Amino acid sequence: MKYFLDSAKLDEIKYAYEMYGIDGVTTNPKHIRNSGKPFMQCVKDIAAWLKEEGLEGATREEGTSRFPVSFEINPHLEKWEEIVEAAKEVSSYSNNYVIKIPCCEQGLIAARKLENMGIRTNVTLVFSVSQAIPVARLGAKFVSPFVGWKEESGDPGDYIMDIVEAYRNYDYKTEIIVAAVRNGRQIGDFAVAGADIVTAGLDVYKKSFEHPFTGHGLGIFREAWDNTVK
Ligand code: E4P
Repeated sequence: MKYFLDSAKLDEIKYAYEMYGIDGVTTNPKHIRNSGKPFMQCVKDIAAWLKEEGLEGATREEGTSRFPVSFEINPHLEKWEEIVEAAKEVSSYSNNYVIKIPCCEQGLIAARKLENMGIRTNVTLVFSVSQAIPVARLGAKFVSPFVGWKEESGDPGDYIMDIVEAYRNYDYKTEIIVAAVRNGRQIGDFAVAGADIVTAGLDVYKKSFEHPFTGHGLGIFREAWDNTVK
């Protein structure tokens, strides 16, 4: 299972890449706001970092497979023509850039047009299997079902399992990014289900590496170490 970092903060991206070997990055307008930088500055800074690290692909196919970075364009755009124009501009900054498009009629039309032009897309804000199927049919690179939002609203997150199964039934190539992941239990559950990718914040990954028994066990082993005959 691939781990993506859900953040637009360059210091967090660098840390997660160096320390955890993350496989890609996802951003959304909340992450851009939290970075404290204008949108286009984030677009330029992450492109420069990809180059510096030697992660940038020579082609779009290479870049979006090696280390994809998803950027969501202006969510106020409602017509597919406007979405396509904005996506073309952002994607021109790096071959690794994938454009996040909301899952609605005009968004799906825009995603189809962009995929046909060779600009890879990540269709986002997906909350049902019936939304996930047209995303795969149009050939989007990624689909992002938001499990955290769904579970926080009281609904079960098991629609992820259904999306995995539906995609397998038809051998769809779109990769499933389980998004808005809030805890290690979700990472485990969706790995077992066969989702391709999870995306989460640094704090979620940090906590998912821990278990109280690990700390307890370490205490036992330290005590034994200290009391071993010298
Ligand atoms: C995914 O790509 C989204 O950026 C993200 O997971 C949305 O959820 P959050 O910002 O509420 O965590």
